Amino acid sequence: MKIIKAEFVTSAVSPKQFPNQPLPEIAFIGRSNVGKSSLINSLVNRKKLVKTSATPGKTQMINFFNINDAWMLADLPGYGFAKVPPQVQKKWQVLIEDYLRERERLESVVLIVDIRRKPTELDLVMRDWLEDVELDYVVVATKSDKLSQTERKLQMNKIKKEFGGDGARTVLMYSSKNNHGRKELWNYFSSRQKKEEAESSVD
Ligand code: GTP
Ligand code: MG
Repeated sequence: MKIIKAEFVTSAVSPKQFPNQPLPEIAFIGRSNVGKSSLINSLVNRKKLVKTSATPGKTQMINFFNINDAWMLADLPGYGFAKVPPQVQKKWQVLIEDYLRERERLESVVLIVDIRRKPTELDLVMRDWLEDVELDYVVVATKSDKLSQTERKLQMNKIKKEFGGDGARTVLMYSSKNNHGRKELWNYFSSRQKKEEAESSVD
């Protein structure tokens, strides 16, 4: 994917603030510090489009980015960071749920997990929730650069077992440090979009 335009659109703390551009949207979710914002920067080839941080809890609102006037990417706050006060976590959780429930133009959700770690209980809750509401999602195991090739294979098999269900679910490996997996993830989005178009022309 050649990135001609990658532009911050707006930040939202409530549904009224979600942007109106009629673009197909992709949302990035996962636990705090897993690498959501870094993944967006890597995908769109911009080092500093989205703010990232070694301290969890950096992204506190939903940030929207217009890519090539063809896609909207939504960077969501992370879940499950113990140091965020419970009332703030609750607020983020409500925001994430409102977003996922109400956002009609949402085409795919990228559920991001750390390739080195066992999925947390919240990751599995999120997976079940996405299944329930029948949103399309792809699981991305990021930070692959942190493991050797043998370890990567081992971890991917485990993550596929937890998330891949009967094999119908796509699980991809990624590294925002060296951009491995970038092409595969864009291919996934493009194939989803073709599928949507085919489905809507049948309706
Ligand atoms: P919150 O907004 O706080 O929920 O975090 P986030 O999920 O957006 O994570 P962010 O992208 O800010 O990254 C967290 C830390 O992980 C930063 O120090 C990144 O540099 C690092 N990181 C993210 N992705 C990768 C990766 O693929 N490889 C390596 N080595 N480090 C990564
Ligand atoms: Mg972030």
